Amino acid sequence: MQNKVSRIGVLTSGGDSPGMNAAIRAVVRTGIYHGLEVYGIMRGYQGMIEDDIIKMESRSVANIIQRGGTILKTARCKDFYKPEGRKIAYEVLKRHGIDGLVIIGGDGSFRGAVAFSQEFDIPCIGLAGTIDKDIHGTDFTIGFDTAVNTAVEAIDKIRDTADAHDRLFVVEVMGRDAGYIALYSGIATGAESILIPERKTDIEDVITSLQEKERRKKLVNIIVVAEGDGFGGAAEVARVVQEKLPHIETRVAILGHIQRGGAPSCQDRFIASRMGYHAVESLIEGRHNVFVGILNSKMSYIPLEKVGKKKGTISSEWMKIVKILAS
Ligand code: F6P
Repeated sequence: MQNKVSRIGVLTSGGDSPGMNAAIRAVVRTGIYHGLEVYGIMRGYQGMIEDDIIKMESRSVANIIQRGGTILKTARCKDFYKPEGRKIAYEVLKRHGIDGLVIIGGDGSFRGAVAFSQEFDIPCIGLAGTIDKDIHGTDFTIGFDTAVNTAVEAIDKIRDTADAHDRLFVVEVMGRDAGYIALYSGIATGAESILIPERKTDIEDVITSLQEKERRKKLVNIIVVAEGDGFGGAAEVARVVQEKLPHIETRVAILGHIQRGGAPSCQDRFIASRMGYHAVESLIEGRHNVFVGILNSKMSYIPLEKVGKKKGTISSEWMKIVKILAS
């Protein structure tokens, strides 16, 4: 089915992620290639409601593929979760003649898109832009690879100083509901324990394992904790460890938002470019209200309403690998 989109809007929403600019560039240039007019909507859904919309040209996206952040800026817009907010946004789009949308964001942004696409006749295409990698229907999300490599670089540096002092470091990485950054960066840096929201933290097990390592004179240890871990984050883990094992010198490092910034990795630029291109192709081909992801190296198109948060998918085998390799 061909559809007559002629003016499309692109926006970034929710937490920014490295590679969003590469996706914007791909959407703008693919749209222009097909003779469409492309509009950038500033600050996510907020800009839709406030009519903060700019015309994009090919040159508007020059020299951005290597930049972190998002040139369109982003926001978490509460008003868009209300029908009144979405109605205003629709009227704004209608005034501009915008008849198709590409939304780059996380699961919260897609929930907004689902409601919008059910209420109004403007087709929406979702692209996963989140460092958390917590979206079903895609093997990759834009920004995860860069974020996890930033975490790895930081933890490697922490290991140097941990090694120099024979210390234990508890490192907190991002991931509100998902432990992927912790899991990948922890395995890649040889962490002794990885604590994630998907598994109940057994602090006694962590302590027993540290005691056992101490008996073997393994004094340099790194525990990677996802910020959303149910036990209460790195500070709480360190506090309990210090209480039970006061002779072990323990330090806490919270990596925070450095994981969200920086130049996107090659992989993030590559997948963002592919996804951005296919988002526009989907709008033109009439493949509406879908989420464009990559599964087993192929593009996947999943109805937006079926795209949920990826939860609890971290297998126990991976945790077993952590234990064995950190012995
Ligand atoms: O969803 C991405 C993310 O970076 C999470 O890992 C983190 O919990 C959250 O955003 C932080 O959001 P904010 O920057 O709004 O504090």
